[in-house]
Amino acid sequence: MGIKKVMVIGAGQMGAGIAQVCVQSGFEVYLHDMKEAAIDKGIQMMEKLMTRNVDKGRMTDEEKQAALSRLSRSTTLEDAKDVDLVIEAIVENMEVKTKVFRALDEIAPAHTILASNTSALPITEIAAATNRPDKVIGMHFMNPVPVMKLVEMIRGLQTSDETFETIQQMTTELAKTPVEVKDFPGFVSNRVLMPMINEAIYTVFEGVASPEDIDTVMKLGMNHPMGPLTLADFIGLDTCLYIMEVLHEGFGDSKYRPCPLLRQYVKAGWLGKKSGRGFFQYEA
Ligand code: CAA
Ligand code: NAD
Repeated sequence: MGIKKVMVIGAGQMGAGIAQVCVQSGFEVYLHDMKEAAIDKGIQMMEKLMTRNVDKGRMTDEEKQAALSRLSRSTTLEDAKDVDLVIEAIVENMEVKTKVFRALDEIAPAHTILASNTSALPITEIAAATNRPDKVIGMHFMNPVPVMKLVEMIRGLQTSDETFETIQQMTTELAKTPVEVKDFPGFVSNRVLMPMINEAIYTVFEGVASPEDIDTVMKLGMNHPMGPLTLADFIGLDTCLYIMEVLHEGFGDSKYRPCPLLRQYVKAGWLGKKSGRGFFQYEA
């Protein structure tokens, strides 16, 4: 089955990026959020990044206008009734995600594939909230979406080969590289990345070095493009905490316990770059 029309749910940093790469690749997109302001912000960011692409000669102004004309705003899930694919990118919380998937299952046509951009939550459990578990799949983009080449593709227990192949094909049309992984906590990306970030937070917590110095060690010593604490702020400390909780609960292993300092920052509303403060401070 070919995908033509896509609904992206959640217009935050991931959803806006996903919508951008989809419209740039010729897909019609509804960008949906429960907050109008989030849609405004998402579209502003898309326009800014596309203008940069025009300035850098990566697309023409006509291509930019055509891409933007394929984008529609959405504040009602009812818009899912005429799409071939939904990509969900809302908060990393199983209860909230399953509620949305249950609703989408009622609204979307029988052929529609329901994908989640979850960082770590089990696809099999999200799929079980629907009557079409064969058409539910993990489509895990990396942040920032317009720049990062990888899409981790997660097969739930009941994901069909047809669904997998359709999404694999679409990922290639988005100029991304798909990698297939099994439905295990944190998949591959966050099972490997997040314990490193959590360990960096313990290093701050134990006073081993300052956040700046910890990041410098990893940038200059290991050639990482961003230090782990800058990366944690960039991802969102709430998202980092939810991922560590999924790993901790999913494996039942104390090596994945989230650092208390991470919990404290999230409780304080210090969510990183998106809230203006995390391990570092950011301008509004
Ligand atoms: N959105 C879109 N584009 C962005 C961007 C953003 N937030 N930040 C930077 N860019 C673009 C810039 O516009 C620039 O593009 P041009 O080619 O037009 O110049 C390009 O990226 C390079 O940017 P900079 O020169 O300003 O900075 P940089 O060289 O440090 O690169 C970076 C920025 C690509 C983000 C780089 O720092 C990097 O790769 N960081 C690590 C990112 C990473 O690890 N992502 C994965 C996070 S984990 C995840 O996503 C999974 C999860 O579930 C949590
Ligand atoms: P974000 O906080 O930037 O954006 C989430 C958006 O979802 C917000 O605009 C919010 O208003 C909206 N939303 C929340 N509940 C909703 C609902 N019920 N209906 C409609 N809209 C709703 O979050 P984000 O960083 O974009 O992350 C979104 C998802 O992508 C999460 O599952 C996260 O784990 C995953 N993810 C994040 C990253 C990252 O680096 N931040 C990377 C890969 C995957």
